[in-house]
Amino acid sequence: MSNAQQVLAQICAVPPRVEKPLTKVSGLAAIRLARPNLSKAVNFFLDFGLICIHNDGNLALLRGTADKTVSVIIERGASRYLGLSLVVDSYEELERLAVVHKVSIADNHPLRGGQSVILKDPDNLMVEVIYGATPLPSLISTEAVQINRPEHITRINRTVRLDYNHPPRIFRLGHTVLGVTHFAKTLAWYQQNFGFIVSDFQMMAEDSVPVVAFMRCDRGDTPTDHHTIAIGSAVEIGHLHTAFELTDMDAVVAANVILKKRQHHHTWGIGRHILGSQIFDYWRDSYGDMFEHYADGDVFDAGIKTGYHQFDGEALHQWGPAVTADMAGKIPSLQLVKTVISRLRDSTQDDLSFKRLINLIRAAG
Ligand SMILES: [Fe+2]
Repeated sequence: MSNAQQVLAQICAVPPRVEKPLTKVSGLAAIRLARPNLSKAVNFFLDFGLICIHNDGNLALLRGTADKTVSVIIERGASRYLGLSLVVDSYEELERLAVVHKVSIADNHPLRGGQSVILKDPDNLMVEVIYGATPLPSLISTEAVQINRPEHITRINRTVRLDYNHPPRIFRLGHTVLGVTHFAKTLAWYQQNFGFIVSDFQMMAEDSVPVVAFMRCDRGDTPTDHHTIAIGSAVEIGHLHTAFELTDMDAVVAANVILKKRQHHHTWGIGRHILGSQIFDYWRDSYGDMFEHYADGDVFDAGIKTGYHQFDGEALHQWGPAVTADMAGKIPSLQLVKTVISRLRDSTQDDLSFKRLINLIRAAG
């Protein structure tokens, strides 16, 4: 750990992991959305590379080729991000959550199978935890390009020809990122209930409460995604973005060409992140929610220690175009301005002090 990292680690007021969490979730199963027009909503996700396995006009279920359960659940209603769905590997863990949170265990939709409990996080966001979902069969994924490196030639007598007519198929759901009102309280809630380990914190100078935490599942010696959930002390609370994994960088590029050709809203990319290292490309769906394509992200086992970093909006990526205004949230909507004003008024109940807000805006560039 560098000296700068050590200083941040010393002032950090929240722990990177807890000793005895209630459960240890094994992954993110799904996100749940509401949309007024399911066909319109589904069309975006088909262009994005997901496969629709059910749409009756009131409920749509989509998946990637390697998703074991449906990973996007869309119900008809006013447009919003309803919440997320996590997986536990034992019924005992589901029972423990039900007892502690005083909720009942319910059967899932027959197309998902298994059972679930529904909890509310400190911002009242729905967090569903599922067990025993019927595993979906693996489907054929978009083939990875064989890479020739100077000292490691793997593609002989064969060419590379990308398909720019059909969207590359999404491999699986990766992570979801939330803007939260009470950073420390929300972090503790996710750690204590689900065993999340913070892979990296981002902090602002002279502020002991971090502004971003990238959290991975505790799978012991088994490597897992650098982050399955990330939370940020953001101006806008709720869903910031959700990311889906593609086979490789060529698939991210091919998807970019197709989504642009089909006139979807491009937000930022293509580039390579620093924390998590993945190659990224960000888009917005027809309802303004942000979704990421990524490939080649970091995987850590539970032994890797937490990183502590200075928060800097420009230090998001190693290469790629400059952060766009759309990505940095520098185009405030009237609703956003109203939200900020009401949150500043209520700053005793909220992490968003005036100082923090100014620092966030400065850091966003
Ligand atoms: Fe992401």
